[in-house]
Amino acid sequence: MKPQAMRVLLTGAAGGIGGELARSLAASGARLLLAGRDQAALQALASSLGGPERATTCAADLREEASLLRLATTAAAWGCNVVVHAAGRPAFGAAPLPAAQLREVLDTNLLAPMLLTQALLPHLQAQPAAQVLFVGSVLGSLGVPGFAAYGATKGGLRAYAQALRRELGGGPVRVQLLAPRATRTAFNDDATTAYNRATGTAEDAPAAVAAAALRLLVDEAAERTLGWPERLAVRLNGAFPTLLDGVFGKHRAALAARRPHAGPSTQPRPAP
Ligand SMILES: NC(=O)c1ccc[n+]([C@@H]2O[C@H](COP(=O)([O-])OP(=O)(O)OC[C@H]3O[C@@H](n4cnc5c(N)ncnc54)[C@H](OP(=O)(O)O)[C@@H]3O)[C@@H](O)[C@H]2O)c1
Repeated sequence: MKPQAMRVLLTGAAGGIGGELARSLAASGARLLLAGRDQAALQALASSLGGPERATTCAADLREEASLLRLATTAAAWGCNVVVHAAGRPAFGAAPLPAAQLREVLDTNLLAPMLLTQALLPHLQAQPAAQVLFVGSVLGSLGVPGFAAYGATKGGLRAYAQALRRELGGGPVRVQLLAPRATRTAFNDDATTAYNRATGTAEDAPAAVAAAALRLLVDEAAERTLGWPERLAVRLNGAFPTLLDGVFGKHRAALAARRPHAGPSTQPRPAP
């Protein structure tokens, strides 16, 4: 779809990638409904994009179903024809992660985009043309130590997007997936950044990811993975799921190095 015809509901709009995408879309002529939890941040972004003619806001917590459904109602009434799911939460670290963190990341990264998409589908299917873009991750197609839970959410999102695209094929709604590699935003805390450095993981600028998302929306391709050699690794891993099992020793070492109680305990055992 041409940007001038887009009315985009953008979740995670105040985030690192979302903010850059909001600026790129607005500069290309799209209109935006900016969603996130921080109303002040959304409002500041909307003002910087040219005010209500170009961008409006709707604060919503995607982990609260009533709030999510209010957002869907607002977006439909506003006339959205493009949904970009860019909200997300990280979960980095060796298993076991706290159960509350597993729930948070599954709710935010997988359940929320599914619920929001479902809630908006009747409206989107009534449009002459509509698009739903999920922001996934390379880690959704390539299992990497330290990202089991996060990768599970993005792998689930990828499966959902692929099946839904096939389910809706031939209709007006085009379903798409962008899978960025590591990106320099506040999403990655110091520990993740240190791990990325130790393992030689390349990081992209959020503006580059936003540019790729805009290109994908305009050319309406189904899926795109960002980065080389990540694209090759994803392809190999898809065709031969155990082939790369042996190449993650450096990653395991970097994970173990940050684990305070790694290795056998040096504490004296209590007497039986
Ligand atoms: N950065 C990376 O390395 C990387 C790599 C690949 C894929 N991704 C994916 O790209 C997307 C954007 O990431 P980013 O780097 O821009 O992260 P970010 O800067 O942390 O932004 C994420 C946004 O998600 C929103 N969010 C989180 N929980 C929410 C909730 N319960 N309800 C509503 N909004 C919520 C936050 O909004 P508020 O806090 O303002 O509410 C925040 O603005 C995510 O889906 C992420 O998984 C990131």
